[in-house]
Amino acid sequence: MEIIHLDTIDSTNRYCELLDLDQVEEFTIVYADEQTAGKGQQSHVWESQTGKNLTLSLILHPTFIQIPDQYQLHKALSLAVVDLLKALGISNLHIKWPNDIYVADKKICGILVANKLSKNILQSSICGIGLNVNQTEFPAWVPNPISISQITHQEYDLPLLLSQLAQCLMSRYQMLKRGELQHIDRDYMDCLMNLGVEKKYLYQSETILATITGINRYGHLLLKTSKQEEISCQMGEISLIS
Ligand code: BTN
Repeated sequence: MEIIHLDTIDSTNRYCELLDLDQVEEFTIVYADEQTAGKGQQSHVWESQTGKNLTLSLILHPTFIQIPDQYQLHKALSLAVVDLLKALGISNLHIKWPNDIYVADKKICGILVANKLSKNILQSSICGIGLNVNQTEFPAWVPNPISISQITHQEYDLPLLLSQLAQCLMSRYQMLKRGELQHIDRDYMDCLMNLGVEKKYLYQSETILATITGINRYGHLLLKTSKQEEISCQMGEISLIS
């Protein structure tokens, strides 16, 4: 495992995108004290106060994963973060599909994965993780944020926490490598937010009432609407209203 520390960078994901990934050692972590243009899902900005949080990208070569199964990697990464937070004594943890980590109804971690595909496998992956750690104030535009410190009222040593997170990531990644997919699926479903609970969603520009019933092989979210229709959604096709 190699760890690269940057004082300041636009985005650790962007930094990794510019590397020749084939030359980068498996399980290399790039982390930064400051990101000036952190990237979130769907072109959002990832806000993180300098020196307060973990903002990192993990470079993997998951060539054992076939393209249709790439969502397994998202599951393993989310579970690794949940494992870390559980080890810190935090409860009420949920994974909001596809890979946001929540404590109750507040977001504590976001994950942004970019895969490079080759033939039918994942050649390399840049797995960006933003975990709120010691930050206690957030700009008003950040939707529902929370940090570890706000929950436990403790201050964390970031390099130490990074090494704990790296161990959790390694352990879930090894599980994937060993093909323990049922174990990962079960743990993921146990954490999936709103599974079996009827909620309001925005879907195809309409408000619908629907209940999450599961996730299919491709990582699509499966729901049953109040009109008893089965729907399957890719990322960005559905959003929770309440
Ligand atoms: C999300 O929107 O939920 C995903 C956020 C991902 C943020 C992390 S911080 C480290 C890495 N570098 C980035 O620019 N983004 C990811």
